[in-house]
Amino acid sequence: MRLSPLVVVANRLPIDDSVAPDGAFEWRRSPGGLVSALHPLLRHTPATWVGWAGGTGPAPELPDVDGVRMHTVPLSADDFRDHYEGFANATLWPLYHDAVEQPEYHRRWWEAYQRVNQRFAEAAAQVAEPGGLVWVQDYHLQLVPGLLRELRPDLRIGFFLHVPFPPPELFMQLPRRAELLRGMLGADLVGFQRAQAAHNFAQLATKVLGLPASDRRIGVDGRVVRIGAFPVAIDTAEMSALAARPEVAERAHRLRQDLGRPEHVILSVDRMDYTKGIEQRLKAYRELLANGDIKVRDTVLVQVAVPSRDRVAQYQILRDRVEHQVGRINGEFGRVGEPAIHYLTQPFDRAELVALYRVADVMAVTPLRDGMNLVAKEYVAARVDGTGALLLSEFAGAASELEQAYLVNPHDLDGLKQGLLAALRAGPEDVAARMRAMRDHLARNDIHAWAASYLSALEESGTLAGRRPAA
Ligand code: ADP
Ligand code: F6P
Repeated sequence: MRLSPLVVVANRLPIDDSVAPDGAFEWRRSPGGLVSALHPLLRHTPATWVGWAGGTGPAPELPDVDGVRMHTVPLSADDFRDHYEGFANATLWPLYHDAVEQPEYHRRWWEAYQRVNQRFAEAAAQVAEPGGLVWVQDYHLQLVPGLLRELRPDLRIGFFLHVPFPPPELFMQLPRRAELLRGMLGADLVGFQRAQAAHNFAQLATKVLGLPASDRRIGVDGRVVRIGAFPVAIDTAEMSALAARPEVAERAHRLRQDLGRPEHVILSVDRMDYTKGIEQRLKAYRELLANGDIKVRDTVLVQVAVPSRDRVAQYQILRDRVEHQVGRINGEFGRVGEPAIHYLTQPFDRAELVALYRVADVMAVTPLRDGMNLVAKEYVAARVDGTGALLLSEFAGAASELEQAYLVNPHDLDGLKQGLLAALRAGPEDVAARMRAMRDHLARNDIHAWAASYLSALEESGTLAGRRPAA
């Protein structure tokens, strides 16, 4: 077993087993923001990524991906159902996203969560070199820092939560809330997307565990755990370079022609998830068409919604409802060869996605709640000609940084419609000034700056915590 100075532990590996359209088995880039953020960061570093490869049954042997060693953790069919679909995505996910869907609590799911977290902790303990650094990611693995500290007290342990961390009123619903908090406090540094989340966590540490806590530090078992906000980012330069490639510009040009050369193209790109506000957005779009504020010939909407967690009931219901809505809107307002909504559920390669960003005059990113939303950042980075209007939900983490976006409350249907119209009708100077400010922000605050600020805080926390020597 080769040991690594840096180990990333995440539920998903950056590649995932999937079935190609012809039925063949293939490895593909995994969906979601976590992989989009970490994959470019780790490329060509001597790191090991501990994670799950997407299927059930024995763990497959994977080759290195861009120089990063893949260490697979297996999930059985029961683990998949009770840990991934159950506790992670039907208990924690809805609870952490304002309970926009009802979280479910089942003791069997909690048992699976503990069992799988133990397996990830053991895998990380196996591959981390003495005194090494282990960086645990996201809500699937909140017990890993505590479990890992028991196994390997010599390690420096970071934890980063990619999704929102809820206020005490919601978190207190969790039957095993104390264990979850204790698990996270096994880390030397607990990072969140926003300062409010760190504040919520500190409040809960005192309320549930009786620990002394500020918004920067929590004292536990004679150690000091640092906490703070580290808004996750993208590889801005890489995204801009891809967008500037002549073949991507050419593809964007052809896409506009294929769309019937409308005056305005609106684009949305989401995982098919009830947190993303897809239904509310479609409803707003339908009302604008019905009122005659926009016309199909002048304006088209491209909605990309790649299926996600598709055996979980709430996700199946959402997909049915979205597809019903799209069909209804196209039936009512489309014409032959001119649908009102171009609806696509396929995963795209990066170049195709970036060509879509380049063709979008308005990017509508309107989640009901989102930890960050990297799609919003990717769009801005892809607008190399300095044009394009970003319509952004106040409830996305990205709104704290991209303040020059056209901000909307997606729960307010009239506000959403007005925001969409404002973005569509904005003058070119206003659009350009806003885009310039957002591009400047992303140039300074990219994924490398994010990692540097997190890892330097982790270094400091290690000395504060007074780590024990390697066994
Ligand atoms: P989440 O983490 O909730 O999925 P984010 O917006 O932060 O949301 O990240 C989504 C990531 O998935 C982005 O990097 C985006 O480019 C990618 N993505 C979304 N839809 C597709 C698709 N159809 N094909 C390829 N990549 C996609
Ligand atoms: O960032 C949120 C996130 O849940 C990631 O942790 C996850 O990898 C991604 O979205 C996609 O979800 P899933 O892994 O369930 O397909």
